[in-house]
Amino acid sequence: MKECTAQFDSVVTENESLRGMVHHLKETQGQLLRSEKLASIGRLSAGIAHEINNPVGFVSSNSTTLLGYISRIKEILKMYRTGIRKEIIEKREKQLKIEFILDDIDKLIMENIEGLARITTIVNNLKKFAHDSQSGEFINADINEGIRSVLVLVKNESKYYADIITDFGDIGQIPCTISELNQTFLNIIMNAIQAIKEQERKEKGLITIKTWKDDAWAYVAVTDDGPGIPGEIRKKIFSPFFTTKPEGTGTGLGLNICYEIVVDKHGGDIQIDSRPGAGTTFTVKLPRTRGE
Ligand SMILES: Nc1ncnc2c1ncn2[C@@H]1O[C@H](COP(=O)(O)OP(=O)(O)OP(=O)(O)O)[C@@H](O)[C@H]1O
Ligand SMILES: [Mg+2]
Repeated sequence: MKECTAQFDSVVTENESLRGMVHHLKETQGQLLRSEKLASIGRLSAGIAHEINNPVGFVSSNSTTLLGYISRIKEILKMYRTGIRKEIIEKREKQLKIEFILDDIDKLIMENIEGLARITTIVNNLKKFAHDSQSGEFINADINEGIRSVLVLVKNESKYYADIITDFGDIGQIPCTISELNQTFLNIIMNAIQAIKEQERKEKGLITIKTWKDDAWAYVAVTDDGPGIPGEIRKKIFSPFFTTKPEGTGTGLGLNICYEIVVDKHGGDIQIDSRPGAGTTFTVKLPRTRGE
């Protein structure tokens, strides 16, 4: 009997320590998720800064030019108000190139409006990307919209290496943690861009993003015409820290995090279809309703 109790006690202690370990693992997993998210935002931020810098540059230079134009127009206006002879004013108008200025003002203001709109789009997409990032709760969200925001953010990474075309189906909203799904789409799309980039080919590659639905599921397929994934590597790509990228480039956590988000958290699936030499398709499958 004593033996039995001792055995029972040791099972209980073992159970407790296992529970402790699981809890610890869950916490570590959470930390990894957060740090991978930060890392990918870090990787993107240089590109985003560049995207914002360009319009900021010309909006500010246009504004300086406009200030100069306005001071010339003010000078002419003042001459008209003081009743100076018309011929003299006209001569001064020629010197100050007022005719040209009046044309150019419209152009510069239109350019500024367009530049500011570009900045607004980038900022809005950043906000959308980070949406709900803290709570991690399920909300109904449009994943096409999420992918669109990711595409704005990766534009600077992709533009030299690949054209990206989209074929969005009408999938409506699905219950999800949208910022985590955005993170998933970002990781998969970045992998496709990086795979094409590594090939150092002459022409740009092609990435196609297609979404559709059936009764129970919403699907997102990301297809690239990159190098493909050899069979023996395909088995490992969802493992944490598995990477074929040079040290310091990839952490090997991208797809592991995607798996965690899509399969464990959403009850979905990620399928890979890859032909070495021809390209890869990652298909993310997500339930359109949430089971209990
Ligand atoms: N579209 C793809 N084409 C070819 N190989 C791919 C593709 N997507 C993933 N892989 C392979 O899977 C590996 C693991 O991908 P994963 O996203 O998990 O890590 P990583 O991209 O290497 O690093 P990280 O995403 O953490 O920066 C990659 O190193 C690459 O070998
Ligand atoms: Mg990756």
